[in-house]
Amino acid sequence: MATIIAPSILSADFAHLADDVKKVTDAGAEYIHVDVMDGSFVPEITLGATVIKDLRKVTNAVLDVHLMVEHPETQLESIAKAGADIITFHAEATPHAHRVIQKIHELGCKAGVAICPGTSLSAIEELVEFADMILIMTVNPGYGGQKFIESMLGKIHMLYHMIDEMETECDIEVDGGINAETSVLAREAGANVLVAGSAVYGAADVAKAIKDIRGTEIVHHHDDDE
Ligand code: DX5
Ligand code: ZN
Repeated sequence: MATIIAPSILSADFAHLADDVKKVTDAGAEYIHVDVMDGSFVPEITLGATVIKDLRKVTNAVLDVHLMVEHPETQLESIAKAGADIITFHAEATPHAHRVIQKIHELGCKAGVAICPGTSLSAIEELVEFADMILIMTVNPGYGGQKFIESMLGKIHMLYHMIDEMETECDIEVDGGINAETSVLAREAGANVLVAGSAVYGAADVAKAIKDIRGTEIVHHHDDDE
């Protein structure tokens, strides 16, 4: 699967969001990763449907919305109407993950399910066949600029095999501490959608940073990678 780059605007300048979105899409980024935080599931508060609606007006890129909120079901309709393309919620934030996926699909969006580093794959095993994307957090959600947790690579690889064995289509997104070096490890493990905040927006040359994170294509062989 071709690699998709999703710069996280969490590390952008919120007073100049339109410029910062254009900067990364001009450089070839396919997705714009939008981190929604509620001050409860995670400590900080960022933005919601109002800002997403305005972002929709300034870009044709896929708006990849990452809900770090309790009760995600309360946000789905307004965020879908605001123009989100993909809505990803945390499995830890609702007892009704399957229903949330159904609702996201009814609203015409793709559905992603995220799990924190401390959550096992078993939490999403029953959801893989229904979800369009699984987001494996490679840091604890809440802040940009944290260090990639290497022990998540095994989880990514197990998920890659699970999807392969189920003969279903499901993207594997990674989020947290992704840079040119950790991108190689995550892609080797099977991730195909790479979120990067500080490594993109903190770089002097944004286009080069995106190119370096994309790297060269990794070919997965079904037999020899275990
Ligand atoms: C963290 C957010 C990430 C964050 C990643 O909770 O979900 O999307 O922006 O930032 P970096 O790439 O700097 O780790
Ligand atoms: Zn995120």
